[in-house]
Amino acid sequence: MSTVDPPRYSPKVFDVTSEGEARSIILQGPTTGDTDERWRRETPWFGGLIQQALGVLPGSRVLDFGCGIGRLSKWLIDAVGCRVVGVDISAGMRRLAIDYVGSPRFTAVSYEDFRADPACGEGFDAAYAVYVLQHVERPDEDLPAIARGLRSGGRFLLANSSARWVPTTQGWGQDQFNVLALAGQSFVGIHGYVFPKEIAVLDDLDTETVINLYRRP
Ligand SMILES: C[S@@+](CC[C@H](N)C(=O)[O-])C[C@H]1O[C@@H](n2cnc3c(N)ncnc32)[C@H](O)[C@@H]1O
Repeated sequence: MSTVDPPRYSPKVFDVTSEGEARSIILQGPTTGDTDERWRRETPWFGGLIQQALGVLPGSRVLDFGCGIGRLSKWLIDAVGCRVVGVDISAGMRRLAIDYVGSPRFTAVSYEDFRADPACGEGFDAAYAVYVLQHVERPDEDLPAIARGLRSGGRFLLANSSARWVPTTQGWGQDQFNVLALAGQSFVGIHGYVFPKEIAVLDDLDTETVINLYRRP
C-alpha cells in the first residue's frame, strides 16, 4: 500500500538568489515583461498610497512586513526620507533588499527576530503588508504581532489577495484562515481602497486584490 504525504507549509519558493528571481516571485505574471510592467506601474501607486494613507513623515519609523527585496521600502525612503524596517522570512530576500534599497535608513530583520520582539526595538508609527499575508503560515499570530509592534493609534495598510496562496511542499495551497476576519480582530477598519483598473497589468488583479486601511486600537 502506498502512502501520500499531506502537503506541508514550505516557504522555499521565496529562497531566491538574484534580483530577477526575486522579482518574478514577488510580482508574478505569465512573462518577465508582465512582471516588469507590474513593478513599473504598481510600485509608485502603492508607494504613494502607503505614504498618504499611513501619513508617513520624514521622522516616521515604518514596518514593511514581508518586504521582499524592499520594492516599497525603497520607494518610501527615496520619497519621504523615513526609516523602514523590512521583515522577511527569506534570508535571500533580506540579503538582496540591503543592496536594492541601498540606504542606511533601511534595516532587514528576520521573521524569528520580529516574532521575538514585534516592536523591533523602538516600535513603529505605521506598518504595511503588501501581497504577504496571503502566503504566511500563521496569519492568526502575525496580525496580532504587527499590532503589538505599532504604537497605539498607529495605522496599518493591508493589500492582499482575496484568496489564500499558501506555499506548500506540493505547490500553492489553501487553508482555513480568513485574513480579513483576523485583521478585524487586531485592528479597527478605517477605509477600503479600490485597486484602479488602469494599474492592474493582469486580468482580475484589480478585483482579486483587497486593500484595507486599519488603525491599532
Ligand atoms: C509576494 S512577495 C511581496 C514582497 C513585497 N511585500 C512587495 O510587495 O514587493 C511575499 C514576501 O513575503 C515573504 N514572506 C512569506 N511568508 C512570510 C512570513 N511568515 N513572514 C515574513 N515574510 C514572509 C516572502 O519571503 C516574500 O518576500
